[in-house]
Amino acid sequence: MLKLFAFSGCYCNPNSTTNFAVEELCRILEKSINQPIEKYFKSAADLKIEFNPGTGIDFSEGRTAVDDDMKYIEEKILSSSIVVFASPVYLHQVSGTMKNFIDRIAYWAHLIKLSGKIGIIISVSDSNGNKPVSDYLRQTMEHLGISIVSNISLKSGVQSREAIKSILRYEATKVKKILLEEQFPISRLQEDKFRVHKELYSKANNNVVISSERDYWKEQGMLDFPDFRTFFEHKWYENK
Ligand SMILES: Cc1cc2nc3c(=O)[nH]c(=O)nc-3n(C[C@H](O)[C@H](O)[C@H](O)COP(=O)(O)O)c2cc1C
Repeated sequence: MLKLFAFSGCYCNPNSTTNFAVEELCRILEKSINQPIEKYFKSAADLKIEFNPGTGIDFSEGRTAVDDDMKYIEEKILSSSIVVFASPVYLHQVSGTMKNFIDRIAYWAHLIKLSGKIGIIISVSDSNGNKPVSDYLRQTMEHLGISIVSNISLKSGVQSREAIKSILRYEATKVKKILLEEQFPISRLQEDKFRVHKELYSKANNNVVISSERDYWKEQGMLDFPDFRTFFEHKWYENK
């Protein structure tokens, strides 16, 4: 069964358009691909997620920095094929809870840990400021190794729920096509990053890099792949 992980940056608005969009997208997608999706959907109010302490222990030891719900959340993300990051627009940026969640998984960017997963981004403003949010979430997902198949900007003050549903139906057809054809979008940033990191981690005595990160790249066999696309596809089929 396809597994989907979604995190919402809406803290606890009972009438949240962000949460509505995630629920609705999952429902439409399930119907459109005609198979059940095992969904794990949370926002920060459901979870205990401490701030990143900033000590760098997550980067140096390759594990989450604090013993809280992130341990369990990480397992949920890693076992999913589809990852959704959905955030309200707060002064043209992601919400604080979304940023805090991202700060806690930032160390995965060096490991390109979410390679082989497809991603959906949802930003929800009242009327303006979606672009910096969708750009930031795209960049974040790309650094994590996710192939972005849909980047949805919604405006709760302008679009009715019916209009939003219609946008989501269109986006679901794009996701379905990618799931069927398995032609995954890979960005220039992802290819460049893979090449540069591969070069760094290939050198035996390189004190510029963190040794646990180099070990991870070696253990995963990442140094043997010619480019990011080949590695991504290998991880996708391994996940399936
Ligand atoms: C702190 C804060 C800042 C906001 N900043 C913006 C903004 O820059 N642009 C905008 O159009 N709406 C802004 N809004 C409105 C929200 O983006 C809008 O209500 C959206 O629907 C919130 O998502 P939700 O419905 O999931 O709670 C802001 C709301 C809050 C609480």
